[in-house]
Amino acid sequence: MKFLVEPGGSMTGSLRVPGDKSMSHRTVMFGALAEGTTTATGFLEGQDALCTVQAFKDMGVVIRGPEQGRIEIDGVGMHGLKAPENVLDMGNSGTSIRLLSGLLAPQTFDSVMTGDVSLQKRPMGRVTTPLALMGAVIDSEEGKPPLAIKGGQRLKGIHYEMPMASAQVKSCVLLAGMYAEGRTSISEPATTRDHTERMLRGFGYEVECENDVISLQGGGSLKATSLDIPADISSAAFFLVAASIAEGSDLTLEHVGMNPTRAGVITILTLMGADIEVLNEREVGGEPVADLRVRSAPLTGIEIPEDLVPLAIDEFPVLFIAAACASGKTVLSGAEELRVKESDRIASMAEGLTRLGIENDVREDGIAITGGQITGGEVDTFHDHRIAMSFSVAALRASGPIHVNDCDHVATSFPGFAALARGVGLNITEVN
Ligand code: S3P
Repeated sequence: MKFLVEPGGSMTGSLRVPGDKSMSHRTVMFGALAEGTTTATGFLEGQDALCTVQAFKDMGVVIRGPEQGRIEIDGVGMHGLKAPENVLDMGNSGTSIRLLSGLLAPQTFDSVMTGDVSLQKRPMGRVTTPLALMGAVIDSEEGKPPLAIKGGQRLKGIHYEMPMASAQVKSCVLLAGMYAEGRTSISEPATTRDHTERMLRGFGYEVECENDVISLQGGGSLKATSLDIPADISSAAFFLVAASIAEGSDLTLEHVGMNPTRAGVITILTLMGADIEVLNEREVGGEPVADLRVRSAPLTGIEIPEDLVPLAIDEFPVLFIAAACASGKTVLSGAEELRVKESDRIASMAEGLTRLGIENDVREDGIAITGGQITGGEVDTFHDHRIAMSFSVAALRASGPIHVNDCDHVATSFPGFAALARGVGLNITEVN
C-alpha cells in the first residue's frame, strides 16, 4: 500500500489520535503478571501492541479485546506464565522483544523470540549484555534476533550503568530485576521515558528513584489495576507539525499524554516558533494529559539542545519536516540512537528530503537541514511507519504531489492514520 498526497491544504478541526504505544505494551505485560483482572481503555490497536497481546496469549494468558480501545487481561501472577508452544513473533516491535527478554530470562521454561525483516536487523546486545550479567542465558544471531532464552536460571540483582539512553534497556533490566535475588539498580546517561517506573508503581510494585539511580527489590508482586491510556504524543506529533507548517491551520488534539519524559517535541517546536497552546491540563491515572491547540506559524531553524534528544526520540522524522519548512538551518547532534530504530532514521529521512529538493548534511550523530521549497516526488519508507507519516505531512508545503512507497507499516503504531488525517484536511489517499 502506498500513500498519494496532493499538495497544499490546511489542518482544521479536532481529533484524538490512538493510544500510547509504550503504555499499551506495558499494560499487557504488567496486567498478565498481576494478580486479578486489569482493564484498560484507550489501548492502541496497532500491530506492535497486538504482538505483545499475542505473545502473552501464547503463554496461556486470557485476554479479552482489544475492542474499541478496551482490553481486559486476566493476570496469572509473577510465576503463572506457561511455556509457549511456538516461536514468539514480535513483528516490527523493538519494545516487545526487548522488554520481554527481561521477563522471559527468569522463567522456568525456554522460549524463542523473533520478528520481521526490520526487527531482525536491530541490536539486541544492549539487552542480552546486562541480562547475562544477572545470570541469564540467551543466544542470539550475532547480537540480533532471533533470541533463544534458556529457562530455569536464577537471576541476581546488579547495578547497571547504561551505556546508551534507552528506555527499553532500562525497562528490560528492571523487569528482570523483579525476579532477581536482591536489588537491581540502573543509572542512565540521560533521562528516558519513565512509563515502566510509573506503571509498576501503579500496579503496586515499589520502584525507587534517588540521585538518578532507579532501583527495585526482587521478589515482589503486581496487583491488577484499571488504566485510561492517553493519546500517544508520538502520533500527535505528525499533526503538531502538520498544523504548524500548513497555512491557515487551527487544529486541536485531544487527550494527549504529556509525560515530561515524552514532551520534548513540544519544547523543540516551540523553540522553532510554533504556536502550541496547552489547554485543559489534568492528570489521568498518574500521567499528565492535555488538549493541544496548534495554529500555523512561521518556523525558524534552531540548534536542537542535546538534552532534549531522548525526550523526543521518536519524533525526529517529523521534526525534520518542520526543519525543511523553517527559515534557515536546523542542526541535530547527539542523536546516534536514531540509526538503530525501525530504520536508520537519519539516512532514511536524508534520502527522502534530498529527493524532495531539501538540502541536508548528514553526520554520524545527526543532520543539518536547510529550510527550502519542498518539491513533489517519490520517497521510500524503508519499512518504517514514522518515515511514511512524516513524508505524508510534508505534502502540505510541497509544490507537487508526494508518492510515499510501502506504507503498510503505518498500522504498527497508527492504524487509521490516513482517514484521520484526511478528516482534518490532508489530501491523502491510500493506493494499492
Ligand atoms: C520505547 C523506547 C524507545 C522508543 C520506542 C519505545 C519504550 O526506544 O524509541 O518507540 O516503549 O520503552 P529506545 O529505548 O530504544 O530509545
